[in-house]
Amino acid sequence: MKFTFPKDFMFGVASSAVQIEAASFEDGKGIDVWQHRYTLDPAKYDYHDTDFGADFYHKYPEDIKLMKELGITAFRFSIAWTRIYPNGPDKINQAGIDHYHKLFDELIKNGIKPLVDLWHCDLPQWVMDMGGLVNPEFIDWFVTYAKTCFKEYGDKIPYWTTVNEPQCNIMAPYAWGIQPPYEKDIKKANIAGHHMILAHFKTVKAYREMGYKGKIGIVNHFQLAYGATLDEKDQAAAERDMDFYSYWYTDAIYSGHYPESILKYPYMKDNMPENYQKDLDENFVKSDFIGVNYYGAYNVEYVDNGILDYKVAPSKVTDSLGFSPNAAGIFDALNQIIKKYPGYELIISENGAGGMRKGPYEDSATYEKELDDEYRITCIREHLRGLSRCLEVGFPVTGYFHWTLLDTTEGAGGGFSRIFGMVQVRFDKEERTRVPRKSFYYYKDVIAKGYVE
Ligand code: NOJ
Repeated sequence: MKFTFPKDFMFGVASSAVQIEAASFEDGKGIDVWQHRYTLDPAKYDYHDTDFGADFYHKYPEDIKLMKELGITAFRFSIAWTRIYPNGPDKINQAGIDHYHKLFDELIKNGIKPLVDLWHCDLPQWVMDMGGLVNPEFIDWFVTYAKTCFKEYGDKIPYWTTVNEPQCNIMAPYAWGIQPPYEKDIKKANIAGHHMILAHFKTVKAYREMGYKGKIGIVNHFQLAYGATLDEKDQAAAERDMDFYSYWYTDAIYSGHYPESILKYPYMKDNMPENYQKDLDENFVKSDFIGVNYYGAYNVEYVDNGILDYKVAPSKVTDSLGFSPNAAGIFDALNQIIKKYPGYELIISENGAGGMRKGPYEDSATYEKELDDEYRITCIREHLRGLSRCLEVGFPVTGYFHWTLLDTTEGAGGGFSRIFGMVQVRFDKEERTRVPRKSFYYYKDVIAKGYVE
């Protein structure tokens, strides 16, 4: 059986500056929070420093050749804020501006549309030093940066997103305490998130006022939650998890309010910024599309803890990152999103499968063992089957971006020991040689044919 896709469907790959560029100290780049934490304790973070990475900064012409060979028509990537504004909100770094012109031109010359994220997990350290997202001035700093990018690249970019996965930029640093500034303070997280949402609205407005014809939205991680049992308390817990984890930011951005089911808990209600609804009412502006990062599902169960009264239950199937892949769930996830936010174009902005490094980085034998990535082929095939069904019933999905082309460093944990690339990066070699894995050829064939079987 053939699971087909329309001719103009965007088949792409996604990645981010901080995870593959390296060249962290070149051409006037500033330090971001991701790298800053590794400079604090180099021993602990051996092989986690972003500077160890794939060197996409220099090798992008070679990588774009690979993209062309793969047959993709679009590449989702982020601009590093620290290359544009390395040290503060006032002074632009021309070398950074020039670099992304060259990158986007090379993509366009090769028939590949650039989709651009303004911020993918690499907050400049100067922003953090000046109070991070909790400081309301963050909004202006972000909008200034965004406007510079629009002015420079606005004619070249058909799709912009303000933020990738607010959960990893807000909750991980401010509520879960696992990223700088390592806070476990829900009030700060809510204030930071609110500032991010206001920055998003103001950026969308600025983009429209500048008169560009492209589209603008955000990318969100949507993780399906199912009740661990059919008990109605577990079922309600699953809905609450969706509202908290998946829909907290998107409800505000696409519907203009935070989810009621979560706001009724004192844990959230008592820790919200002042006048949050007034801010949303005064600033709300419609975005053009929703970027959906979909990796899978998990189960949750009711617990009487007074916080949000649920916890994540153990999953039967997990991958190396603890994700629970659930390809068929892509239909369910998109169905929910369409019901909540009707009328929006949807893009699968990420989906992928992570493996584990199979030996020491410096040992060349390690790399031989990592070329046969059948698990990634399964991931692509099963999700595209599901997605083709979505299109058949009329879901407005226009693209699928596989995470990712080149091996990266992984924010969800494990640094360079997590393998997400269709193309292997030889970290044992100074020149970071690229070697396509089996999945590269599989995806290439799918794109050429326009269907999976
Ligand atoms: C989410 C993030 O956008 C990306 O940075 C990360 O590497 C992948 N998904 C895999 O976890």
